[in-house]
Amino acid sequence: MAVSLTRDGEIAHLIIDNPPVNATSHAVRAGLMQALAQANSDETVSAIVLSCAGRTFVAGADVKEFGQPPQQPFLPDVVSAIEASSKPIVAAIHGTALGGGLELALACHGRVASADAELGLPEVKLGIVPGAGGTQRLPRLIGVPLAMDLVSSGRRMDTAEAEACGLIDVVAEGDLISAAMALASSLVGCEPRQTSSLAMPAFDEGEAQKQFAAVEKKARGQQSPAAAARLVLQAAQLSFAEGLAAERVCFLELVQSDQSKALRHVFAAERVAAKVPGLEEVKPRAVQTVGVVGAGLMGAGIAVAFLHAGYTVRVVERDETSMKAGRVRIEGLFTRLVKSGRISEVDRAEQLGRLSTFADRSALAPCDLVIEAVFDDLAVKTELFAELSTIVRPDAILATNTSYLDPDEIAAVVTNPERFLGLHFFSPANIMRLVEVVRTAQVAPVVLATGLAVVKRLGKLGVISGVCEGFIGNRLFTAYRRECDFMLEDGVLPHEIDAALENYGFAMGPYAVNDMAGLDISWARRKRNAATRDPSKRYVTIADRLCEAGRFGQKSGKGYYAYPDGRRMVDPEVTAIIEQSSRDAGIDRRPFEAADIVSRVLDGIVSEGRKILDEGIALRASDIDLVLINGYGYPAWRGGPMVQAGIQ
Ligand code: 3HC
Repeated sequence: MAVSLTRDGEIAHLIIDNPPVNATSHAVRAGLMQALAQANSDETVSAIVLSCAGRTFVAGADVKEFGQPPQQPFLPDVVSAIEASSKPIVAAIHGTALGGGLELALACHGRVASADAELGLPEVKLGIVPGAGGTQRLPRLIGVPLAMDLVSSGRRMDTAEAEACGLIDVVAEGDLISAAMALASSLVGCEPRQTSSLAMPAFDEGEAQKQFAAVEKKARGQQSPAAAARLVLQAAQLSFAEGLAAERVCFLELVQSDQSKALRHVFAAERVAAKVPGLEEVKPRAVQTVGVVGAGLMGAGIAVAFLHAGYTVRVVERDETSMKAGRVRIEGLFTRLVKSGRISEVDRAEQLGRLSTFADRSALAPCDLVIEAVFDDLAVKTELFAELSTIVRPDAILATNTSYLDPDEIAAVVTNPERFLGLHFFSPANIMRLVEVVRTAQVAPVVLATGLAVVKRLGKLGVISGVCEGFIGNRLFTAYRRECDFMLEDGVLPHEIDAALENYGFAMGPYAVNDMAGLDISWARRKRNAATRDPSKRYVTIADRLCEAGRFGQKSGKGYYAYPDGRRMVDPEVTAIIEQSSRDAGIDRRPFEAADIVSRVLDGIVSEGRKILDEGIALRASDIDLVLINGYGYPAWRGGPMVQAGIQ
């Protein structure tokens, strides 16, 4: 039974039980209609509580039903029936109330949530808009500006914020169902308060239009955020029935769109990435104390990510001065997070309270997991891991964050190498979602499973990669950059390539990214590798020439672009360097259309992606799509280069 009906005195209790996340599949919708009718027709029932069994309240419509012929009753009908109930209905929310789940709750006449619940309308992340009244009821309850923010970002709200804005009525201090029963009892005899009948709270129309314009700009070609925000604005202009009809039309149109299909591919891909053949039955080890070696930009970001996720973190630097500088760097990251409103002062203090910094590696002895983020040099890393092997427990997990070195060469110095793996974070590590979990030759299944579990607890996306130069991400990026550099020499300029790719939907073009990250580190690597370079392969010298001219990117005030007043501008000096480089290579420069630029880049990525798959470095094509989306700014709403090329 997907929905059951029990009794507690005069209160009927409707329980949805549809594992894993109580999605509103057909059986749930039909069951709810039936149980509701039964409770409403029973004269001995005076109020109703709606709750869920298992780990969560309803997490949304059933995405597996999208694309299939719709079956009645539809979710908007169920939601309307709840709101129209003559007896008050109270939602008892635990876990997450998302999408259609929150829409069910919005139609109830009261909402109680447990203290750790989360609520949101994440439909835009699936390329759609809420389809069961969410865009129309939410602004009536919490106001247009906040509703627009929630529906267009898809972000989740915690219970404290939900209570403060009036989205929920009560935070359950003890037992959730008892609290919901108490609220339901208090509503008996009152006219049920219908969210759809509430007067729209006053708001500043001009500010709302500005907010809408910002949503549209940020979406960079994705349709659903602006569509959802527009529906919220319409809620203030149309009657409830008209707004609901507009929402339905928009939902049905978007659910058929290529963007939604692409984003559903991404949703499924993320769930599949966590499923690794051979690890199905493996239980990850408990990890609580984490060591980070090196508190440069990367190490500091990694430490912050672990502190956010509740770990105890011990950071080690090589001497007192570097240790103090490292602590300042970590505290600086927290200061920025507080300033931008991402975390509160209280959270900052609590999280920093779990941080200790040391100038002595022996302080890592109590760690369950140690990650190094020191200079990317084999001798430096092997010296470090040989010593770490003697400091930590024999079963403590050791991880390298190397980007380009061979982790199996590092593993050679580790005692018990089966506890050694790669955890390759992307910079800035406290922000970027992707972590490549690198499967070293001897790694034990439990260590790999623990690596994935830790990454998940960080709120990040772990993708398994085999060992090769650059792993999945940097190897693809090298192919991507190679095509761009060839085109620079063949006839285009950096701003044309960046514009073509940004218009395609990339967060930033490769040359703007390069200027931000700095040109000097890869220049140093190219110089180190010069002796072993294959002379038969085409080599573009433009990046080297820029560095020789002192153009190291934004940090030196100039790179592929000039930055007067901090704004990125085309620089004639760069154009001259590029044109000279083409002449020296004997190339007659020719123009490229934006579409040609994009297809040449994507072809380069896909052809490298095929090799990565053939070599078994990536487990599946969708993992490659996830790496590009989460590590390199590829637009999620296009699904990924592999799926676009028909490789699944
Ligand atoms: N429909 C069907 N299955 C779903 C689902 C959904 N909406 N949400 C999650 N699942 C499945 C997953 O595919 C996974 O299945 P698997 O075990 O076979 O791989 C299982 O539930 C567990 O999911 P996660 O691995 O993601 O578990 P987590 O505990 O990490 O996260 C969650 C749970 C926060 C609920 C997360 O799954 C989530 O964010 N789900 C999507 C929520 C969402 O987008 N809801 C809106 C749907 S659209 C909608 O409601 C339209 C409406 O307005 C008409």
